[in-house]
Amino acid sequence: MDSNQKLSARLAAAVPRGISIATPIFAERAEGAEIWDVEGRRYIDFAGGIAVQNIGHRHPRVLAAVRDQLEAFTHTCFQVTPYEVYVRLAERLNHLAPGAAPKKTIILSTGAEAIENAVKIARAATGRPAIISFSSGFHGRTMMALALTGKVNPYKAGFGPFSADVFHATFPDAYRDVSVEQSLASIERIFRADVEASRVAAIILEPVQGEGGFNVAPFEFMRALRTLCDRHGILLIADEIQTGFGRTGKLFAVEHSAVAPDLIAIAKAIGGGFPISAVIGRAEVMDAPIPGGLGSTFAGNAVSCAAGLAVLDVMEDEGVIARANKLGEHVAQRLGAMKEDRRFDCIGDVRGLGPMLAVEFVKHRDSKEPAPELAKSITAKAAERGLIVISCGIYANVVRVLMPLTMSLELADEGLGILEASMLDAISKT
Ligand SMILES: Cc1ncc(COP(=O)(O)O)c(C=O)c1O
Repeated sequence: MDSNQKLSARLAAAVPRGISIATPIFAERAEGAEIWDVEGRRYIDFAGGIAVQNIGHRHPRVLAAVRDQLEAFTHTCFQVTPYEVYVRLAERLNHLAPGAAPKKTIILSTGAEAIENAVKIARAATGRPAIISFSSGFHGRTMMALALTGKVNPYKAGFGPFSADVFHATFPDAYRDVSVEQSLASIERIFRADVEASRVAAIILEPVQGEGGFNVAPFEFMRALRTLCDRHGILLIADEIQTGFGRTGKLFAVEHSAVAPDLIAIAKAIGGGFPISAVIGRAEVMDAPIPGGLGSTFAGNAVSCAAGLAVLDVMEDEGVIARANKLGEHVAQRLGAMKEDRRFDCIGDVRGLGPMLAVEFVKHRDSKEPAPELAKSITAKAAERGLIVISCGIYANVVRVLMPLTMSLELADEGLGILEASMLDAISKT
């Protein structure tokens, strides 16, 4: 039998250190909301492969759809010999995306690729170069996506220079006293100091920042951005790569604010464990690039499209959104109770939207000084106890929960119990 230790040594010798491993646990199999490692130990999964397994690992309907597609064909390249599963998935996403305007969808492979394409489409549609993104936002690891990203360490460090004509506004942050007004003022400052509004193609944001620390864009802020974009002919791009497909208790997080973006980037959970992403947008905007201007060899792979259609079926037929909301209320209540508990005065904030929830750890509640070592120690101790949970945040001091939305409340409670015990253990060692 392989051991985690032996495999970790082989990994260190064979794989560059730039890929930093969150939990040194080698997966052997997974089912629903649980993972078993190569040593036969069972773990509760609060990470879901980073917000991918919203309907759980190996959902039978996803596996059946994938098997059927494997029997038919795997890859022809959509732009060489197209196929119906791609078109059907595009049709369904066009129908589901918020906003009354007719939509079109391009299907791709990764989140970063969706972001790259959203920027290309926005520039082609507006004939303008500049893009505004936000501090502590994360949009992926390709060069344009990195340029948009507002978190240096570890994503951008050593990889510049980045694309010109990208400007970062300040994201609202109620916990650290950045108001909606201040955030909007930071955009006006960009128009005054960096680039005129008439040269800005798009403003891009995550409705809830994922890697940046689960900072929720207030709904009034989303609506103000929509108004500001309309005033200046700027496109609004929602990066729903982490927030999409029920993660915040709606299919798309922007539905909470009733704002219809011009373009939406999706990835992660739509594939049910298979690599797929997409840009959904207003048809006239999506049609701006010239024929041949978009595409790639594997974009919209048939097996991934079949998985995506099955995920949508499951979401509709199995009441995933309703289950997500119930789970979210339960987890929010338990995390909220921990924050009130005097033993946990290292909890500075509990925040999120629906079941997309996180706990920010600080050295002291008054100073709000971030405690990244504590967050690191908690995730490590949780793994030792059988819970996979990961951190995030501009200061790496936020522990986030991204469990499958179909997880039972009993399993969620077992996982939260482990999290609580790990917190107590980590606190006692500081
Ligand atoms: C909000 C957001 N955008 C973009 C990405 C990049 O997606 P990918 O890792 O599939 O390229 C991520 C990945 O975590 C993300 O959370």
